[in-house]
Amino acid sequence: MTIMVTGGAGYIGSHVCVELMRAGHSIVIFDNFCNSHREAVNRIGVIAGVSPTVIDGDVRDRGLLASTLANYRCSAVIHLAGLKSIAESVSDPIRYYDNNVYGTLGLVQAMRDTGVHKLVFSSSATVYGAPVYLPLREDHPLAPCNPYGRTKLMIEQMLGDLAASDGSLKIAILRYFNPAGAHESGLIGEDPRGTPNNVMPFLAQVAIGRRPHLTIFGKDYDTPDGTGVRDYLHVTDLAVGHLRALDALERQDRIKVNLGTGRGTSVLDLVEAFSAACGKHIPVVFAPRREGDVASSYASCDLAQQILGWRATRDLKAMCRDAWKWQSSNPQGYGDPRSSS
Ligand code: NAD
Ligand code: UFG
Repeated sequence: MTIMVTGGAGYIGSHVCVELMRAGHSIVIFDNFCNSHREAVNRIGVIAGVSPTVIDGDVRDRGLLASTLANYRCSAVIHLAGLKSIAESVSDPIRYYDNNVYGTLGLVQAMRDTGVHKLVFSSSATVYGAPVYLPLREDHPLAPCNPYGRTKLMIEQMLGDLAASDGSLKIAILRYFNPAGAHESGLIGEDPRGTPNNVMPFLAQVAIGRRPHLTIFGKDYDTPDGTGVRDYLHVTDLAVGHLRALDALERQDRIKVNLGTGRGTSVLDLVEAFSAACGKHIPVVFAPRREGDVASSYASCDLAQQILGWRATRDLKAMCRDAWKWQSSNPQGYGDPRSSS
């Protein structure tokens, strides 16, 4: 089976590509590299033992999408391409609606034009907004509180309407919790541009000496140690979840599931685990809460287990170990001079 992976050069996409290739699929990466590095594609090839096909394209280019789907006889699409910064979505919402919503509209039109019926979409736990109860089940009310989250919800709704109108479509919506870690080889990992927004890459950059300390946003939440609690899951487990979703679409036409571990970890727990993994003290500084953050968020994983037969198998220790292996072997990420050697 040939599968198009939009956003396949990105953090999660690169790990999805590796797992797809390991499972014997051919892949076509469709990415405009607006938030990724070409070196990531080379590294995917090193891990998989064969170079993936890459199309340098934008998902808003419907013609190029359609010709790629047709030329490579793709039978499914895993759609990860999207912009993901909450803060940027607040300051520049048009860019987010254009890229994420309009981009996905172009993709589904191209799929219809070329007779491709299977789609796996990267959604996010952010569609739930502030939890009314925990753990978050898939039928929890949906109330995203920023433009990024609203683009994800709009896409989910658009895909729901499409599925209702066309019985031949098979669509899986995956709501990721907090992806963390890196491939166990240390060859691919998360390499955010500029200052990391997310806690795990920030921690890794403190540990490698690129930043003096981690700023912890809030120490007065209603959580066991006062810091924010999240459901971190290993990016390889997350990638495997995409394979299980593709398989499950053979049995079921519509899927909407959380991908998480069901376990909550506080920022202080994470700092301690990372410090143990890298063998270094991680200086922290406390600051006021970050706007828009909730105290706790973690998934109910029952539906993923039931429908996909999937559950996360790697623990926090493995996430920290692999994140550190990636960061310590590539101190400057893919831009490291050693990257191309
Ligand atoms: P990423 O930025 O590393 O990867 C996204 C990839 O999409 C990049 O390679 C980028 O160049 C590409 N891209 C963006 N817009 C494009 C366009 N118009 N045309 C072609 N390519 C384009 O991000 P990631 O962390 O790997 O996230 C992948 C997906 O998962 C995104 O849709 C994101 O919203 C979603 N998600 C991520 C998280 C997270 O915490 N990382 C959580 C929930 C959901
Ligand atoms: N945090 C810090 N310091 C930092 C960064 C984060 O203390 O420098 C804290 C946050 O306050 C929060 C926790 O670490 O308590 C996790 O924050 P992240 O930014 O790593 O993750 P979020 O849960 O805020 O959001 C992430 C993605 C969203 C996605 C969501 C759910 O950024 O896009 O997970 O999947 F929607």
